[in-house]
Amino acid sequence: MLKLHDLYFKPFISEQEIHAAVEKMVQEIATDLDDEMPVFVGILNGSFMFVSDFVKKYPKPCEVTFIKLASYEGVKSTEDIQRLIGLTQDLTGRTVVILEDIIDSGKTLEEVHRIFKNENVKELIIATLFYKPEAYDKDFKLHYVGIEIPNKFIVGYGLDYDGLGRDLPDVYQLKTTQHMTNLVLFGPPGAGKGTQANFLKEKYDLVHISTGDVFRFNIKNETALGMLAKSYMDKGELVPDQVTIDMLNKEVEKNTDAKGFIFDGFPRTNAQAKALDELMDSKDSQINAMVALEVDDEVLVNRLLERGKTSGRPDDADESIIRNRIKEYYAKTAILKDYYAAQNKYYGVNGVGSIEEITERLSQVIDKL
Ligand code: IMP
Ligand code: MG
Repeated sequence: MLKLHDLYFKPFISEQEIHAAVEKMVQEIATDLDDEMPVFVGILNGSFMFVSDFVKKYPKPCEVTFIKLASYEGVKSTEDIQRLIGLTQDLTGRTVVILEDIIDSGKTLEEVHRIFKNENVKELIIATLFYKPEAYDKDFKLHYVGIEIPNKFIVGYGLDYDGLGRDLPDVYQLKTTQHMTNLVLFGPPGAGKGTQANFLKEKYDLVHISTGDVFRFNIKNETALGMLAKSYMDKGELVPDQVTIDMLNKEVEKNTDAKGFIFDGFPRTNAQAKALDELMDSKDSQINAMVALEVDDEVLVNRLLERGKTSGRPDDADESIIRNRIKEYYAKTAILKDYYAAQNKYYGVNGVGSIEEITERLSQVIDKL
């Protein structure tokens, strides 16, 4: 991931792919021009890297020059007037190949055509490395296109965001969702997970997604996914991961401006952890950390027995049931601990102390993400 000024970008087109596209354009243009000696005209600033790589690969003699689009404040109108400057050479009778880094709306290209109309060139050929067909609303023919891309902002390989990013050899695309803090929260029964989740969601403006609640909500409201899940549960079968993931996806999409999510009760298996990674990836995001509250077994047993006295929950009253639940928790989370540790995303947090102390320890982890 890449941050320029206030925005985040993700890798989009690698240096290798760019070079392959440049190579292909060189071959096509060299073949088509045959023995004609072209003048390659780069449009600054963005095209400097493309033009440099292009002419180095070009197999025949050629000339290279640059022009630049400059804007002047109109004296009488408020409209910005754009002019291409730097064209000093006589190009009468020459075959001119415009080398553009990117064609977006086609405004720059329109300006190029306007300038060259009076130059009496033999032929004006347009070649662009990147092209956004969805944004292009002009009719000028594009003779050579390197890579067609969706209508999203990119940086790198000459292209900038407010001055930054031109120097990067690869191309990055603006992330549609900006930076989020996404946590997978774990803790054995009695560790205070629910209490801490409540504090964290307030403090960091996160949305708490408890899989149990999501299931109950979907089944109670008889959503399509809820009904589907119920059909498996009624048969005594496990709800397929995809159904759960689809429900979580809906929750994530309901909260597009969230600063992040706390996932609680999911994932439980390696396959689910992978599916969650894919879900976050599809949102241009990722799980940043698995945070697990660590509490000694004896402390947990005492806490739960204590809670059982007032809560009336039968599973909190029996010590052997409690011990079994704790054992089960460790057996199940061990795989996930390994999964996230392998990505350097596992954070064990001491869950013994006052509520505030534990919140503070969790905050120290989250603040560094
Ligand atoms: P057009 O005139 O709308 O075709 O846009 C061309 C100019 O806009 C380029 O020369 C770039 O300076 C800028 N531009 C368009 N799209 C992008 C982008 O995705 N990243 C960076 N600059 C862009
Ligand atoms: Mg340009």
